[in-house]
Amino acid sequence: MIAYLNGEYLPPEQACVSPLDRGFLFGDGVYEVIPSYDGKLFLLNEHLDRLGRSLAAIRLPDPMPDGGWAEMLERLLQQNPGADRSVYLQVTRGAAPRDHAFPGQATATVFAMVSPIAPQGPAVAGAGVSAITAPDQRWGRCDIKSVALLANVLARQQAADHAAVEAILLRDGLLTEGAASNVFVVTNGVVRTTPLGPAILPGITRAFLLGALRAEGRDCREEPVPEVELRAADEIWLTSSTKEVLPVTRLDGQPVGDGRPGPVWREALDRYRQERYRLMHGSAGRDVTHD
Ligand SMILES: Cc1ncc(COP(=O)(O)O)c(C=O)c1O
Repeated sequence: MIAYLNGEYLPPEQACVSPLDRGFLFGDGVYEVIPSYDGKLFLLNEHLDRLGRSLAAIRLPDPMPDGGWAEMLERLLQQNPGADRSVYLQVTRGAAPRDHAFPGQATATVFAMVSPIAPQGPAVAGAGVSAITAPDQRWGRCDIKSVALLANVLARQQAADHAAVEAILLRDGLLTEGAASNVFVVTNGVVRTTPLGPAILPGITRAFLLGALRAEGRDCREEPVPEVELRAADEIWLTSSTKEVLPVTRLDGQPVGDGRPGPVWREALDRYRQERYRLMHGSAGRDVTHD
């Protein structure tokens, strides 16, 4: 694997970052994860827009304006050939003497690497996945894609301890999102997901899926989902750039709906893949990469 660090393309074990880097000391940085299919980045502009918003929110000037990101990411993908990959990139405020306030002088650290996207596989369509619920113990700006992810890490580990793939987070009796995903619920055919705001990350997959489902007339609502309604839902899905649309069939050990991936999930995943195919190939068709 070839990674990118501050202008250089090199094996990750040769990429060195100072221990005084503020990403290391404070989690003072932001990141993105961008999927790529057959070497083409999917929804790149949407991801770069969100990166720009995260950088602005933490008052860190964009270190690669004017098309620099796209050029670097394309070059990195060329050096890591393969079918389905995701690019992880992060920007931190750089190395400086340790002080909470911003340093007078520091150069941002830019790091990027490529990983394979694990295909969803037939087991998921057959059985779905398990999730647990956990209290949302994160901060008040979850809309910023910050590298400071300790609360998310602890929630995901709690899920892993229960052999579950995700922790679905609850705050004040309402669903927020997953530790690393957005959450959708389906009740009597109506699709609901938490409205945008500081309590959740504005997921790129979330927005894309809402658009695809609404275009075919599905009733989709961005409104608060109380915990009791989450638990009583017919279907629960997780979305993210690497998970696509994943059906949750067990929540805290109890079956969701009839305990099998539901019909609206099947429709949603099909729509998601059709729309992705259309966008990436400029024509109608079905993206079967993950079947
Ligand atoms: C907390 C959180 N919410 C939602 C998402 C989904 O966002 P996206 O669809 O942009 O990958 C992620 C992605 O990792 C996440 O970490």
